[in-house]
Amino acid sequence: MYHNLTSEKMKYLTINELWNIVYTQLKTTAIESARVETDVILSKGLNVDKSFIYTYPEQLVRNKDFRRVLRYTFLRTCKIPLAYILAEKEFFGLLFKVNNKVLIPRQETEFVVETAISIIKTISETTYEKIVCADIGTGCGNIAISVVKNLLNINLEMYATDISSSAIKLAKQNAKLHNVGDKIKFVTTNLLKYFIDNRILLDVILSNPPYVSEQEYEQLQPEIYFEPKKALVAKTGLEYYKYFAKHAGYVLRPNGKLVLEVNPNLIHKICELFFQSGYNIKKIVSDYSSLPRVIVVEKNT
Ligand SMILES: C[S@@+](CC[C@H](N)C(=O)[O-])C[C@H]1O[C@@H](n2cnc3c(N)ncnc32)[C@H](O)[C@@H]1O
Repeated sequence: MYHNLTSEKMKYLTINELWNIVYTQLKTTAIESARVETDVILSKGLNVDKSFIYTYPEQLVRNKDFRRVLRYTFLRTCKIPLAYILAEKEFFGLLFKVNNKVLIPRQETEFVVETAISIIKTISETTYEKIVCADIGTGCGNIAISVVKNLLNINLEMYATDISSSAIKLAKQNAKLHNVGDKIKFVTTNLLKYFIDNRILLDVILSNPPYVSEQEYEQLQPEIYFEPKKALVAKTGLEYYKYFAKHAGYVLRPNGKLVLEVNPNLIHKICELFFQSGYNIKKIVSDYSSLPRVIVVEKNT
């Protein structure tokens, strides 16, 4: 076991030997994607590209790097998500800083970004006016920043809001990191309150709201409990959609749209509640597992 290795022996470990130690540790603690995560831990711990690990398996590992890799591995075997250990997560081809005050961006949320980009491009073809967009519950800023980064040539005003001031602080840092700090307005506020109070009208509302029900939360992987519960859970999973269905009409311009990530288990209920509140369901986008993941709705005029 690696805990028993003497520092003398540690000096002579090769990348390949270290890879096997890490992999065995992750595998024995039932980390699902042990192979992929071992690659990441080694690449980050040794500060090399993943390809380097496979090209130079016989290269000796320096003591300092060895200790870093062991630290990452130990934390991971405690089920702490790798993104929190490394303090970063890739999303839509960009690297975002994360910490345990924000949800770790998920791959399926990239469908919100793709859908938003396409909608905003379409709107821009029919108007010369500024398109106003808000990402509600921005977390580390991944949705707002990815959209803005991909639409630099469009006259777009982007707001990124969250009820958590820690999230807003981190989102601002990420925006700066990606050179769009001056292109996004960050606001700490409760859902649409800031826009309603200030009578700001929006063309597009984006949101990946908390949608895991209390019941579902009990049955999730242990990693999930390191993430802020408030970022994930709503009592029945429907509360935030009910809020949007009730209040978005006050801030959406005519033909304005809501682009929302949804809990696939609640898709029928969510569509029903928007329909009952006078919205048209314009689109339902499925994710990589063919599950309904994003809805686009528009208020009837
Ligand atoms: C599911 S996370 C989404 C984070 C990020 N947008 C993403 O997609 O990865 C939901 C976010 O909504 C925020 N939130 C929860 N309740 C809120 C509220 N009442 N008003 C504004 N933001 C809220 C949480 O702090 C959290 O950052």
